[in-house]
Amino acid sequence: MARLRSQSIATLSFFSFLVLSNAIGTEEITYLLKLREAITPPLSQWFQTRDMCAWNGITCAYYDDSLYVQSIDLSSMSLTGVLPPDLSSCFQGLHFLRLQNNSFHGPLPSLRYLPELQEVYLDHNNFTSIPDNCFQGLFNLKNLSLSYNLNLQQWTFPISLTNSLKLTDLDLAATNLTGSLPDIFTSFPTLRRLDLSNNKLGGPLPSSFEFSEIQNLILHNQLSNKFSGTINVLSSMTELTEVLLQGNSFNGLIPDLYNCIKLQVLMLQDNNLTGTVPQSLMNLSSLENVSLANNWLQGPLPVFGEQVAVALGGNGFCLDHGGPCDKAVTALLEVAAGFGYPYLLARSWQGNNLCDGWRFILCDELGRIRTVNLSKLKLTGVISPAFGDLTDLWYLYLDGNDLRGLIPQILSNLPHLKVLDVSNNSLSGKVPRFSPVVLFIAKGNSLLLHDDLISQTKGTTSTSTSTSSLPPWLAGVLAGGVGLTIVMYLMIIANNRKRCFSLLQKMMIWKKTTTLPDYNVEEFIKSYQSMTLKRYSYSELKKITNSFHESLGQGGYGIVYKASLVDGRKVAVKILKESKGRGEEFVNEVITIGRTSHVNIVSLLGFCYEMNKRALVYEFMPNGSLDKFIYKKGSSTAVCDLDWSTLYRITIGIARGLEYLHQGCNTRILHLDMKPQNILLDENFVPKIADFGLAKICKKDKSVVSISGARGTLGFIAPEVFSRTYGGVSHKSDVYSFGMLILEVVGGRKNYDSGRSHTSEMYFPDWIYKSLEKGNILARCLPSTKEENDMIMKITLVSLWCIQTNPKNRPSMTKVIEMLEGLLESIPYPPKPVLHSPERLPTGFEDFEDLSSSAHESNSLATENNGSIK
Ligand SMILES: *[C@@H]1O[C@H](CO)[C@@H](O)[C@H](O)[C@H]1NC(C)=O
Ligand SMILES: *[C@@H]1O[C@H](CO)[C@@H](O)[C@H](O)[C@H]1NC(C)=O
Ligand SMILES: *[C@@H]1O[C@H](CO)[C@@H](O)[C@H](O)[C@H]1NC(C)=O
Ligand SMILES: *[C@@H]1O[C@H](CO)[C@@H](O)[C@H](O)[C@H]1NC(C)=O
Ligand SMILES: *[C@@H]1O[C@H](CO)[C@@H](O)[C@H](O)[C@H]1NC(C)=O
Ligand SMILES: *[C@@H]1O[C@H](CO)[C@@H](O)[C@H](O)[C@H]1NC(C)=O
Ligand SMILES: *[C@@H]1O[C@H](CO)[C@@H](O)[C@H](O)[C@H]1NC(C)=O
Ligand SMILES: *[C@@H]1O[C@H](CO)[C@@H](O)[C@H](O)[C@H]1NC(C)=O
Ligand SMILES: *[C@@H]1O[C@H](CO)[C@@H](O)[C@H](O)[C@H]1NC(C)=O
Ligand SMILES: *[C@@H]1O[C@H](CO)[C@@H](O)[C@H](O)[C@H]1NC(C)=O
Ligand SMILES: *[C@@H]1O[C@H](CO)[C@@H](O)[C@H](O)[C@H]1NC(C)=O
Repeated sequence: MARLRSQSIATLSFFSFLVLSNAIGTEEITYLLKLREAITPPLSQWFQTRDMCAWNGITCAYYDDSLYVQSIDLSSMSLTGVLPPDLSSCFQGLHFLRLQNNSFHGPLPSLRYLPELQEVYLDHNNFTSIPDNCFQGLFNLKNLSLSYNLNLQQWTFPISLTNSLKLTDLDLAATNLTGSLPDIFTSFPTLRRLDLSNNKLGGPLPSSFEFSEIQNLILHNQLSNKFSGTINVLSSMTELTEVLLQGNSFNGLIPDLYNCIKLQVLMLQDNNLTGTVPQSLMNLSSLENVSLANNWLQGPLPVFGEQVAVALGGNGFCLDHGGPCDKAVTALLEVAAGFGYPYLLARSWQGNNLCDGWRFILCDELGRIRTVNLSKLKLTGVISPAFGDLTDLWYLYLDGNDLRGLIPQILSNLPHLKVLDVSNNSLSGKVPRFSPVVLFIAKGNSLLLHDDLISQTKGTTSTSTSTSSLPPWLAGVLAGGVGLTIVMYLMIIANNRKRCFSLLQKMMIWKKTTTLPDYNVEEFIKSYQSMTLKRYSYSELKKITNSFHESLGQGGYGIVYKASLVDGRKVAVKILKESKGRGEEFVNEVITIGRTSHVNIVSLLGFCYEMNKRALVYEFMPNGSLDKFIYKKGSSTAVCDLDWSTLYRITIGIARGLEYLHQGCNTRILHLDMKPQNILLDENFVPKIADFGLAKICKKDKSVVSISGARGTLGFIAPEVFSRTYGGVSHKSDVYSFGMLILEVVGGRKNYDSGRSHTSEMYFPDWIYKSLEKGNILARCLPSTKEENDMIMKITLVSLWCIQTNPKNRPSMTKVIEMLEGLLESIPYPPKPVLHSPERLPTGFEDFEDLSSSAHESNSLATENNGSIK
């Protein structure tokens, strides 16, 4: 910052006898004079010398030939007084402000825009309030402590600290903070110590703690508001050494912390934690001091090394010494594990005798467990095969919950079982064959595949495994809830069995060498008329489309026609091209959207499968696809038919649909072809994701999937899809395409237009970023209100996060929604994208062009990024 003053003061000092070291800025002089008056008891030395830089506690230094106050240090001097307010922007060279351990009171002086400030210690005073935006523009701040200002008015976590990217130590303990922690911790990549203890903060730990390098996490609490939710995020915080979370309302399990190899102190006492203590915690050799006391922990007493200080009281461990629990207790705890160790069960499922006060359990007089009644308890999760160890069981009621997955085969081996009620759940897969004496009730599980139906298909050989007789990879899919349709369509196309199988192998990540059973497809379909999907004949389709009269458009794999059902309902019929190898698209669409149900995903209503005629029947979307509302074919002017509030709603809707696909129970669906052409709009402009021809289903715990060849549409494909150097293909690849999609919504032009030369045109994201930096947002259509302007800004910032080159730096869709719906100010500023314009298509694109519905030449892109966001 150039300062004219420095010159004039220098000239002045040449003529006068003033010492040069006194030549700090006039605002600094004014402030220090006011400060001198404000402090009691008065600092006599400050009245004895006119050279402020020689005052006790003040140091000055030269920067750019000007003299500045570098440090104000009045710590531990038993001072009191109300500090003058206008510290902000006077002290452009101030590095250190240390006023701690005094009795200063009144409002804190604002620290806004003190760009050199590195360390601020204001703790152990008596300040009463904090001005708005007090911490804005502190670009070099590393340490900030305000702790133990017990008379502060309540305030919320200062979001303006996101300007302080170098923050390493933040201590706001006992400062009357309220509300929840904003999810902004990716803004502090070098944060090492965070102390927010003894405030009135609540809510969950922010997900941006994930992979942070915090070492000391101090959030313990003695007050009424408390943090809640799980502590799972700790498992990714591998630099942790000290974790103090005691006295909150954390629930769920103690996560595996085996990556936290530096963890020494772990204080989790006085929370609501349930479940068994993971062996990996006992194995952590760095541990010195652990307290798990006063939770609802269960199972065997954990045993730690001798050198570790341990507190474990007030839990429900089965024994007061190490060693395994009773066999039936172990079994029931595994049952509880299947439900995620709910608090409801943890409260009474304690100790080593399940006939002694365990709720929902009834024993006979000989101490044999006869009844487990878990009816209508809102349980989620799966039915554990450990029920099979309760061999005395007569009655098992699991009805009216939200249980998923398979009914374990082993339940059919329980020798004394009389009643098994699993009705009204979300169970799926094949039902085990029970002995006729068992009353088995399973109504209200739409995904269950009943034995009598299976038996009509040839080739199912029953095995005695605890899951199912289906091939293991298929059983995995079944557990994910999309299974039934897969089985069905496997069967449908089983007359081309070999090809079908290889296709499925490509689509699924579970590659097993099992061969498929030889199903009789038609017979199976006949026995399954109750399916929600209707089967159409080709002639029926011809009739309802009025002989394919009105075409709605051409997708990647076929032409879409408008049709009217007998009841007058409009539908869209996609007739798939007959070319070779297109079976994949058919199966893909059916297994993916066939089992989804979400307002932002197009509904599949039926299908046609007849020799080589295949078609899919969808709900009709009167307003067509989104691209028509962004740009016109062959025109460079934007279409502005929709106002920004509608476009914003559409953006959030698409994000929700995609989040749903990514957030399945055990499986994720990757769309892999997100673009405006594949977003359909209903009569109220509610967006629906369509065209699942390239989709993939993968297990949720697999972060990366393998795909054969590059796929997608140019301009929207994430870099990792065509080049390994950018990482593996994952749900983050969809996030990238989503980013490009919404960037188009903002920009109103194609992000890559084959008609334009890419040497003269500025790369699209770069263009957006440039205008963002200049402060003017180059939106396609002008906003009419401040709210609309904010919406555009939010969409732009989020899109730039989504198109980060490194998939890890892109947010999850959940995070995207949170950013879109949250405050503009809480979205961190995305790193700048940089452009690479390769002369040639990257290798692998030859394939890709063949697959893509709209193959152009490409600008590939990369963004350079040193930030990260989850
Ligand atoms: C706080 O200040 C008092 C004197 O005012 C001093 O005796 C005490 O040691 C200081 N405490 C700390 C922690 O610096
Ligand atoms: C803090 O301020 C309150 C009221 O303003 C006063 O009663 C109290 O004594 C002060 N405490 C200290 C340590 O200065
Ligand atoms: C916190 O803030 C509230 C509301 O401003 C106030 O009533 C209370 O006294 C403050 N201090 C503490 C310690 O709660
Ligand atoms: C600033 O914070 C860092 C990280 O917690 C710490 O190591 C350092 O000692 C702090 N500086 C001062 C002056 O306390
Ligand atoms: C523990 O969780 C239960 C159920 O959510 C709740 O009622 C209870 O208040 C919680 N207890 C604590 C100490 O957080
Ligand atoms: C814990 O350590 C034991 C012995 O060192 C080892 O056998 C076991 O696999 C470890 N368990 C976990 C979960 O790390
Ligand atoms: C363990 O940590 C707690 C909380 O920090 C402390 O009170 C206790 O003295 C520590 N125990 C040992 C043996 O270090
Ligand atoms: C199971 O428990 C529920 C709730 O306590 C009760 O309403 C129901 O009658 C019980 N069922 C049987 C068969 O005992
Ligand atoms: C399932 O739930 C429905 C509606 O809540 C109820 O009417 C029905 O009786 C339940 N079925 C069984 C078998 O419990
Ligand atoms: C959207 O669809 C509705 C219902 O069909 C129709 O009335 C409206 O004109 C359409 N809007 C546009 C802009 O096409
Ligand atoms: C990113 O980090 C690298 C190495 O730390 C540095 O060379 C580069 O200039 C940084 N880029 C940006 C955009 O900050």
